[in-house]
Amino acid sequence: MLSESDVLSTLMRRTPGWSLQQALYCDAGVFRVDLERIWYREWLFAIPACEIPRPGNYVVHEVGAYSVVIVRGSDGEIRAFHNTCRHRGSVLCRAKKGSNPRLVCPYHQWTYELDGRLLWARDMGPGFDPAQHGLKPVHCRDVSGLVYICLAEAAPPIDEFASEAAHYLAPHDLANSKVAHESTIVEHGNWKLVWENNRECYHCAGNHPSLCRTFPEDPRYIGSDNSGELSDIAAAHVARCEAAGAPSAYRISARGDWRFVRTPLLDKGESYTMDGKVAVTRPNSSIPFRDAGSLLKFSYPGCWNHFLSDHAIVFRVTPIGPMETEVSTKWLVHKDAVEGVDYDLTRLTEVWLATNDEDREVVENNQRGILSPAYEPGPYSPTHEGGNIQFVDWYATTLIRAITGGPATIAAE
Ligand code: FES
Ligand SMILES: [Fe+2]
Repeated sequence: MLSESDVLSTLMRRTPGWSLQQALYCDAGVFRVDLERIWYREWLFAIPACEIPRPGNYVVHEVGAYSVVIVRGSDGEIRAFHNTCRHRGSVLCRAKKGSNPRLVCPYHQWTYELDGRLLWARDMGPGFDPAQHGLKPVHCRDVSGLVYICLAEAAPPIDEFASEAAHYLAPHDLANSKVAHESTIVEHGNWKLVWENNRECYHCAGNHPSLCRTFPEDPRYIGSDNSGELSDIAAAHVARCEAAGAPSAYRISARGDWRFVRTPLLDKGESYTMDGKVAVTRPNSSIPFRDAGSLLKFSYPGCWNHFLSDHAIVFRVTPIGPMETEVSTKWLVHKDAVEGVDYDLTRLTEVWLATNDEDREVVENNQRGILSPAYEPGPYSPTHEGGNIQFVDWYATTLIRAITGGPATIAAE
């Protein structure tokens, strides 16, 4: 098991443009450092805000050793708290999600308001001060309908990302959306392999027959994360969408931790369906045409999203163990869209359910192959795997700076 200084020296020895060394994909010490230095420090996408539309609605999200309750208060605000009672530490919310007018501990029934204040604790004596025993807050921000949390004592800046998200997501009405379907799978692979697989479509033609009906595997449709260069088709698409009021231009942060770009689908495809036509006839975007492609967003380390003209899909990545990662997928449609009338659930979900399963298999094959003593890092394709190069550069830079105490704001190398 690698120590933190072993992790640092391994990162310093890596070859840029090549996949990482074996230990970085499977070692328990590396996993611990990843949790402590990345997952417990960065802003993480947790849930779409529309999943908890009413006061008292809550969702529990677990990251490493932490359990967090995300709850909508009586004032409509979404807040996050550590899911541990301030009496003797019992888990407060046992269910994954639910609705309660107050948060009541199952052990001795200490009762908390939805804003975390301790309201009631039986027979605690005259010196007991309830104000000193409110729930511990977790940083929480509703970013244009996407709820982000941060487990750090002092959270890194999020304002620039939030304002860019407000700009790009303005045509996508997440506030008036609902979760039409969700799926959660566990992939037996390190979280970085899940990301690397997401960041390239070099594997798409050979693995994703249904996705490839609409999603272009040509990286120039998306824009290289090294140059931002677009093909003529992609550039024309961006110009057309922007003229219609839908922000679409390629934009990546200085740290390399988030990116937006709206990419066209193949052959004027409208949505991720088997025939390429929309899946939802009551759209949750205001874009005035159906073939707006997909606004691709990622924010490391926790999520990637697709925003289409008719619906949106949010993916959440959560590390479970050195070689185990949960991937949750939620399909968001207009809140008034009626299943069976405005959309068919199978048609809406079949392409990405299949694609997720295909991705799980390639990630698991990748992990198994890396476990061989014969594994050694290999070169990324500069044409197709620029996203991988960008991801591992972000990972290595972020981890090195976090371990050595460098500044939080850094340029991707
Ligand atoms: S541990 Fe929660 S009320 Fe006792
Ligand atoms: Fe894939």
